[in-house]
Amino acid sequence: MFKGVLFDLDGVLTDTAEYHYQAWQRLGAEIGVTIDRAFNEELKGVSREDSLKLLLAHGGRTKEFDSEQFAELAQRKNEYYVEMIQQVGPKDVYPGILDLLKHLKKEGIKIALASASKNGPFLLEKMALMSYFDGIADPAEVAKGKPDPGIFHLAAEQVDLTAVECIGIEDAKAGIQAIVASGALPIGVGRPEDLGSDIEIVSSTEELTIERLISVWEIARN
Ligand code: BG6
Ligand code: MG
Repeated sequence: MFKGVLFDLDGVLTDTAEYHYQAWQRLGAEIGVTIDRAFNEELKGVSREDSLKLLLAHGGRTKEFDSEQFAELAQRKNEYYVEMIQQVGPKDVYPGILDLLKHLKKEGIKIALASASKNGPFLLEKMALMSYFDGIADPAEVAKGKPDPGIFHLAAEQVDLTAVECIGIEDAKAGIQAIVASGALPIGVGRPEDLGSDIEIVSSTEELTIERLISVWEIARN
């Protein structure tokens, strides 16, 4: 049986992946780089700085900004994003998530956050989910972002486990790659077209019941 669940936040616990997209779109529009949802799949799960690098490369603008301007653009995007998430509250927690957290707690299964976002703790507080989390991996402490497995190793460590003892839940391609590389068992939230057809996928968080997690684990690990 798995001993922990390592949760991504944006797009798994709530709809903030959409706000990240809108904030990048707004910043992009200001500097003449247009992005669409297909390109946004490449940004999901990726750190703020790495996302900005991808966005500038997408628009062929990489060489136009020195490090100071780059930092200003990253900060501006974050300001747009932070403005949007002020309204987030318990009502915004995705369906099924609260029940899952409660069941995991009842079973003594550890719960950890493995989000690339520096706004993660703020959002957990806003959604009144903080008390369910036994550990939070600080993305500032890992050398490389997703798809590197570092954040999942750190999240498992925060709850005194190793990643192989855990299930990881993600909505991003880079995140799934990170889970697989960490040795945890991945469950994707989204579409097989985006996340791959070789892993367990749910189309809605409503399907993330503890029974489903147990059955996915038993099939994969026994
Ligand atoms: C991830 C998001 O969870 O966090 C990315 O999927 C985002 O879109 C990344 O870029 C970093 O977030 P933040 O809030 O630190 O800029
Ligand atoms: Mg995500």
